[in-house]
Amino acid sequence: MDTKLLKANEESIDLACELLKNGEVVAVPTETVYGLAGDATNSEAIKKIFEAKGRPSDNPLIVHISNLNMLDKIVSKIPEDAKKLAKVFWPGPLTIIMPKSKEVCSEVCAGLDSVGVRMPSNPIAREIIEKSEIAFAAPSANISGSPSPTIATDVFADMNERIPLVIDGGECEAGVESTVISVLDDKPVILRPGIVTKEEIEKVLNKEVVIDKHITENIDAKGEVLSPGMKYKHYSPKANVVVVKGSLENFVAFIEAHELENAFAMCFDGEEDEISIPALSYGKIDDPESQAHNLFAVLRDLDRMGAEYIIARCPEKEGVGLAVYNRLIRAAGFKLYEV
Ligand code: TXA
Ligand code: MG
Repeated sequence: MDTKLLKANEESIDLACELLKNGEVVAVPTETVYGLAGDATNSEAIKKIFEAKGRPSDNPLIVHISNLNMLDKIVSKIPEDAKKLAKVFWPGPLTIIMPKSKEVCSEVCAGLDSVGVRMPSNPIAREIIEKSEIAFAAPSANISGSPSPTIATDVFADMNERIPLVIDGGECEAGVESTVISVLDDKPVILRPGIVTKEEIEKVLNKEVVIDKHITENIDAKGEVLSPGMKYKHYSPKANVVVVKGSLENFVAFIEAHELENAFAMCFDGEEDEISIPALSYGKIDDPESQAHNLFAVLRDLDRMGAEYIIARCPEKEGVGLAVYNRLIRAAGFKLYEV
């Protein structure tokens, strides 16, 4: 299959809508990461998404809508907490797990009776939903297991010859995927951290929100997980990643003590010259939003540079930092050294 990579404009957006209506899969930009979109009510389209990504069929997809009227078709009930959250955070990078409707095909939800829904803020994603009148299911547009793509050429690198069209909408703003929260019962649980933080959500709901422990901890193969996505290897570049927690001085000493060949460092802005091996910054030390924005792009850059090892500075776990920590520690297969 020939894969077109087209800049977002009226013509390419019309083509994307036509392909979606015909049950095809199209890569589209969102404010978080690029997504692989397919009609959420069309089993054949959803099967193509799983195939293109090489995604295990028990890992459910998120459904994207552009206005609240569309929600009634996707869910069988809108819990009170969901109403409050949608009012404040939509459009934006928050996915809310609710009871699913019959219209959403079972492949989207991997057989679960719940569905994750979000209303993206990216104008191109919104225009495609509005014009096609299709609520699309969309996972991140990477081959399963590799870092999520935040620019169209990274989507193309993974999806060439697998899907007919990639819409280039420039760099994604957030750089990490949406926060996922379940409001299926009275105790909301964050299943994946993102730009919308636990603190912000608690303020809106006026109650405690639990962070699922799998966000920061490894699970054993038999462990029960609330979100199927938690149990798979994720965000991994080809290189071996290790995360090193401690001062810059001790980070430098760690690198010098190990003498790894073909190793690159991932550091914070301004630290590059202190480090004895080639180093790329993934953001400002005290600005987790900048780290989130760059994280996946830097992991992909280092792969292209031929890194065998990536030794990364550990981000703080506070606020948006938790999203950065969660992605990086998974990219590292939970290899964390404290120095
Ligand atoms: O920002 C995003 O959310 C991006 C863009 C494209 O919108 N999408 C994305 O999708 O990250 P994906 O498929 O890569 O991640 C979806 C996550 C997975 O961890 C999945 O297990 C979880 O959401 N999820 C989806 N539906 C669920 C459900 N019904 N119950 C529990 N977890 C669910
Ligand atoms: Mg993903």
